Amino acid sequence: MRFTFKASDFIFLGFVVAVIIFVTWLPTPRQSNPPTPNDPPHRSIKLQKDCLACHIQTGQYPLPARHPKRQDCFRCHREPTI
Ligand code: HEC
Ligand code: HEC
Repeated sequence: MRFTFKASDFIFLGFVVAVIIFVTWLPTPRQSNPPTPNDPPHRSIKLQKDCLACHIQTGQYPLPARHPKRQDCFRCHREPTI
Protein backbone atom coordinates (compact mmCIF):
# COMPACT_ATOMS: atom_id res chain seq x y z
CA MET A 1 0.00 0.00 0.00
CA ARG A 2 1.34 3.40 -0.94
CA PHE A 3 1.21 6.23 1.58
CA THR A 4 0.11 9.56 0.21
CA PHE A 5 0.22 12.83 2.13
CA LYS A 6 -3.12 14.43 2.75
CA ALA A 7 -3.70 18.01 3.84
CA SER A 8 -4.37 16.83 7.39
CA ASP A 9 -0.94 15.17 7.47
CA PHE A 10 0.74 18.49 6.69
CA ILE A 11 -1.31 20.21 9.37
CA PHE A 12 -0.21 17.54 11.84
CA LEU A 13 3.45 17.89 10.82
CA GLY A 14 3.20 21.67 11.15
CA PHE A 15 1.75 21.20 14.62
CA VAL A 16 4.61 18.87 15.61
CA VAL A 17 7.23 21.34 14.38
CA ALA A 18 5.48 24.19 16.24
CA VAL A 19 5.54 22.19 19.48
CA ILE A 20 9.24 21.39 19.05
CA ILE A 21 10.08 25.06 18.44
CA PHE A 22 7.99 26.12 21.43
CA VAL A 23 9.72 23.61 23.75
CA THR A 24 13.23 24.61 22.62
CA TRP A 25 12.40 28.26 23.39
CA LEU A 26 11.36 27.54 26.97
CA PRO A 27 13.89 28.91 29.44
CA THR A 28 16.27 26.29 30.81
CA PRO A 29 17.16 26.19 34.51
CA ARG A 30 20.63 27.33 33.42
CA GLN A 31 19.16 30.73 32.55
CA SER A 32 17.81 31.27 36.06
CA ASN A 33 20.92 30.16 37.98
CA PRO A 34 23.63 32.75 38.58
CA PRO A 35 25.84 32.82 35.46
CA THR A 36 29.58 32.38 35.71
CA PRO A 37 30.90 35.93 36.20
CA ASN A 38 32.41 37.43 33.06
CA ASP A 39 35.74 38.52 34.54
CA PRO A 40 39.32 37.55 33.55
CA PRO A 41 39.78 34.75 36.14
CA HIS A 42 36.51 33.11 35.09
CA ARG A 43 37.03 33.66 31.37
CA SER A 44 40.47 32.05 31.46
CA ILE A 45 39.13 28.71 32.73
CA LYS A 46 38.38 26.06 30.16
CA LEU A 47 38.29 22.94 32.34
CA GLN A 48 35.47 22.70 34.84
CA LYS A 49 37.65 20.90 37.38
CA ASP A 50 39.74 24.09 37.66
CA CYS A 51 36.70 25.96 39.01
CA LEU A 52 37.17 24.17 42.31
CA ALA A 53 40.59 25.81 42.77
CA CYS A 54 38.65 28.73 44.30
CA HIS A 55 35.22 27.23 44.94
CA ILE A 56 36.11 24.49 47.43
CA GLN A 57 35.39 24.85 51.15
CA THR A 58 38.93 26.03 51.88
CA GLY A 59 39.15 28.23 48.76
CA GLN A 60 38.75 31.91 48.05
CA TYR A 61 34.97 31.72 47.49
CA PRO A 62 33.58 28.49 48.98
CA LEU A 63 30.30 27.10 47.70
CA PRO A 64 27.35 27.20 50.09
CA ALA A 65 26.84 23.96 52.05
CA ARG A 66 23.59 23.25 50.22
CA HIS A 67 25.16 23.66 46.78
CA PRO A 68 24.93 20.52 44.56
CA LYS A 69 28.08 18.38 44.86
CA ARG A 70 28.73 18.17 41.15
CA GLN A 71 31.64 18.91 38.87
CA ASP A 72 29.74 19.80 35.70
CA CYS A 73 29.47 23.49 36.58
CA PHE A 74 28.55 24.64 33.07
CA ARG A 75 25.45 22.46 33.05
CA CYS A 76 23.90 24.82 35.54
CA HIS A 77 25.95 28.01 35.24
CA ARG A 78 26.18 29.73 31.89
CA GLU A 79 29.74 30.03 30.64
CA PRO A 80 31.11 33.56 30.59
CA THR A 81 30.47 35.08 27.17
CA ILE A 82 33.73 36.14 25.59
C1 HEC B 1 40.55 32.55 40.69
C2 HEC B 1 39.51 32.01 41.59
C3 HEC B 1 38.22 31.51 40.92
C4 HEC B 1 38.09 30.52 39.99
C5 HEC B 1 39.19 29.62 39.39
C6 HEC B 1 36.67 30.41 39.70
N1 HEC B 1 35.96 31.33 40.44
FE1 HEC B 1 33.96 31.61 40.42
N2 HEC B 1 34.13 33.17 41.74
C7 HEC B 1 35.34 33.60 42.29
C8 HEC B 1 35.06 34.74 43.15
C9 HEC B 1 36.11 35.51 43.96
C10 HEC B 1 33.64 34.97 43.07
C11 HEC B 1 32.84 36.06 43.75
C12 HEC B 1 33.07 37.40 43.12
C13 HEC B 1 32.52 37.49 41.73
O1 HEC B 1 31.30 37.47 41.54
O2 HEC B 1 33.35 37.58 40.79
C14 HEC B 1 33.10 33.95 42.20
C15 HEC B 1 31.77 33.82 41.87
C16 HEC B 1 31.22 32.80 41.11
C17 HEC B 1 29.80 32.59 40.88
C18 HEC B 1 28.69 33.35 41.53
C19 HEC B 1 28.20 34.51 40.75
C20 HEC B 1 27.02 35.12 41.45
O3 HEC B 1 26.33 35.87 40.77
O4 HEC B 1 26.79 34.87 42.64
C21 HEC B 1 29.67 31.52 40.06
C22 HEC B 1 28.38 30.90 39.52
C23 HEC B 1 31.00 31.05 39.76
N3 HEC B 1 31.93 31.85 40.41
C24 HEC B 1 31.27 29.97 38.96
C25 HEC B 1 32.56 29.56 38.63
C26 HEC B 1 32.82 28.54 37.65
C27 HEC B 1 31.76 27.75 36.86
C28 HEC B 1 34.18 28.42 37.57
C29 HEC B 1 34.98 27.54 36.59
C30 HEC B 1 34.78 27.94 35.19
C31 HEC B 1 34.76 29.35 38.53
N4 HEC B 1 33.74 30.04 39.14
C32 HEC B 1 36.12 29.51 38.79
C33 HEC B 1 36.58 33.06 42.09
C34 HEC B 1 36.88 32.04 41.20
C1 HEC C 1 22.90 20.92 39.42
C2 HEC C 1 23.14 22.30 39.06
C3 HEC C 1 24.45 22.96 39.51
C4 HEC C 1 25.73 22.53 39.26
C5 HEC C 1 26.18 21.27 38.51
C6 HEC C 1 26.61 23.53 39.80
N1 HEC C 1 25.86 24.53 40.40
FE1 HEC C 1 26.58 26.21 41.31
N2 HEC C 1 24.66 26.79 41.81
C7 HEC C 1 23.52 26.15 41.42
C8 HEC C 1 22.36 26.90 41.87
C9 HEC C 1 20.90 26.52 41.64
C10 HEC C 1 22.88 28.03 42.56
C11 HEC C 1 22.08 29.14 43.25
C12 HEC C 1 21.86 28.73 44.68
C13 HEC C 1 21.20 29.80 45.46
O1 HEC C 1 20.88 30.87 44.93
O2 HEC C 1 21.02 29.57 46.67
C14 HEC C 1 24.33 27.94 42.50
C15 HEC C 1 25.18 28.87 43.06
C16 HEC C 1 26.57 28.88 42.85
C17 HEC C 1 27.48 29.91 43.34
C18 HEC C 1 27.08 31.16 44.10
C19 HEC C 1 27.07 30.83 45.56
C20 HEC C 1 26.72 32.05 46.38
O3 HEC C 1 27.36 32.23 47.39
O4 HEC C 1 25.79 32.77 45.98
C21 HEC C 1 28.75 29.55 42.94
C22 HEC C 1 30.05 30.29 43.23
C23 HEC C 1 28.63 28.29 42.21
N3 HEC C 1 27.29 27.92 42.19
C24 HEC C 1 29.70 27.63 41.65
C25 HEC C 1 29.62 26.38 41.04
C26 HEC C 1 30.79 25.64 40.59
C27 HEC C 1 32.23 26.12 40.69
C28 HEC C 1 30.31 24.46 40.08
C29 HEC C 1 31.14 23.27 39.52
C30 HEC C 1 32.10 22.69 40.49
C31 HEC C 1 28.85 24.47 40.19
N4 HEC C 1 28.48 25.66 40.78
C32 HEC C 1 28.00 23.47 39.75
C33 HEC C 1 23.45 24.97 40.68
C34 HEC C 1 24.54 24.21 40.23
